[in-house]
Amino acid sequence: MNIGLIYYSNTGNTRTVAEKLEKKLTEKGHNVTREEITITGATPAQPGKFELTNIPNPDGYDAIIFGAPVQAFSLNPVMKAYMEQLPPLDGKRVAIFVTKQLPLLMVGGTGSISIMKNASESKGAKVAASEIVVWAEKKREQSIKKCVESIARIF
Ligand SMILES: Cc1cc2nc3c(=O)[nH]c(=O)nc-3n(C[C@H](O)[C@H](O)[C@H](O)COP(=O)(O)O)c2cc1C
Repeated sequence: MNIGLIYYSNTGNTRTVAEKLEKKLTEKGHNVTREEITITGATPAQPGKFELTNIPNPDGYDAIIFGAPVQAFSLNPVMKAYMEQLPPLDGKRVAIFVTKQLPLLMVGGTGSISIMKNASESKGAKVAASEIVVWAEKKREQSIKKCVESIARIF
């Protein structure tokens, strides 16, 4: 399957998870393309104070994995802006993951997933998996492993 891994990463954590997913899915025989969204302007990005400079096009993929960090108890504004300009995703299988620091509920993970899920479904995608990766040291390795395995399972 031709899979696009489209993500934004400010400090590298989301990129690390994307790289591990790329490796796992490639080992399973998929053709994986990792594409990072980039911006102009200062980071961490503030709403309205950046422009998207690399806007990955999901058209050529059979399936997409979207990844992004949580920022200020919500989805990072760069991924929010990317989601707002998505083209139709008719029938494509989609998986979603977010990375976040705090190992607590109610600090933006679920809300961020919902924003990405709703945006994808409104464009006709079928969201088949979603994962929250907790970056706090004690949870990190286990959390990354669970994310990679559960997303890899749907492809
Ligand atoms: C400005 C800012 C706000 C953040 N807000 C939250 C938050 O509300 N909840 C949380 O769990 N982590 C928060 N974090 C931590 C990031 O979500 C976490 O470090 C994430 O893995 C970063 O991903 P990245 O390295 O791909 O940018 C915040 C980080 C920054 C820089």
